[in-house]
Amino acid sequence: MAAALYDENMGFYAKAPKIGSPDGPFDTNARFPAFGYAIAKAITYAEKVIGFPLRVLELGGGTGQLGNNIISCLENDHEYVVLEPSQGLRANQQQRGLHAIQNIDSLPPKPTFVFGNEVLDALPVHRVMGMGHEEVLELYVDLDEDGEFCEQPRPLSTMALVERLSGDRVQLGRGQVAEICLELKPFFKSIWRVVDPGYVIFVDYGDHASNLYSHRHRNGTLRSYYHQQQLYDQFFAVGQQDLTADVDYTAACFLAEEVGFEVDGLIPQGIWLRNLGILDYKGPTGDRESDQEEIDVLTRPARLGSTFDVLIFKTKGLSNGPGLQPAS
Ligand SMILES: C[S@@+](CC[C@H](N)C(=O)[O-])C[C@H]1O[C@@H](n2cnc3c(N)ncnc32)[C@H](O)[C@@H]1O
Repeated sequence: MAAALYDENMGFYAKAPKIGSPDGPFDTNARFPAFGYAIAKAITYAEKVIGFPLRVLELGGGTGQLGNNIISCLENDHEYVVLEPSQGLRANQQQRGLHAIQNIDSLPPKPTFVFGNEVLDALPVHRVMGMGHEEVLELYVDLDEDGEFCEQPRPLSTMALVERLSGDRVQLGRGQVAEICLELKPFFKSIWRVVDPGYVIFVDYGDHASNLYSHRHRNGTLRSYYHQQQLYDQFFAVGQQDLTADVDYTAACFLAEEVGFEVDGLIPQGIWLRNLGILDYKGPTGDRESDQEEIDVLTRPARLGSTFDVLIFKTKGLSNGPGLQPAS
């Protein structure tokens, strides 16, 4: 999955996909200016708590559209940094005037507002399978006799995989497949180093471990997006389709605490955006109907409002993060 997504020449993200545009592989919240408006409100709120000016660190900036939308809604100038591993996407972000960097290690610790839309679901995962009697094997990518990609169950590459399952209090049934993201902790650790103090906010899809690893997802949640279509064949058009898996919120919260953060909240996107004041959004065209449609798409539970959740971490001692209560 790491190579299929991030190989510098052949990976899906190396080709700078037009994420969030109608002719791109898939849509994200980032496409909607109203979303950027709400995030700008969250930054302003965080500034009231922590003090002005806050550095803004966007994780995984995609096309750069969200960064531009947020900046256009902020009243004052901010140091706005995008952390982006894909060289192609970084180039696009820089063309849009954003300060995009490859490596978080170049940032000094500072008061910071960190934000990532659909980044955790893009971190590579391991796949494992329950074999009965508490035995778990890992599903490796291999080549079959015809030279085609296939999955091969073999002994685990690391005990961290079963440790995660037991930390999540999950026991896989016989034949049950699960994805496990071991990159969460190092990722959180790298963010922890630069946030002093600050809020860290992830908008993503996922579930608590007890649901994520239940019979409802017997084949796991790994899936792909190709030309706006959802597919379940990770070996189809490798490097041309996006791969993603649901985020394990139980592990994410536990690991965030392990690196030093406090978990501040987990709230459906629709409620979070309403609390931030998205209903006041007025787009640049003055077309109220289209503004309302955007707000509806982002907030209604039957649309994106409960598809995505918002995970909020903070450094110790800060008061409640943005959007956890209705704006007064
Ligand atoms: C699904 S896309 C979302 C892009 C954008 N946030 C949006 O909502 O349109 C995932 C993004 O996360 C980036 N990404 C992947 N691994 C990352 C990492 N370790 N740190 C920061 N960004 C990462 C990808 O390169 C890509 O820009």
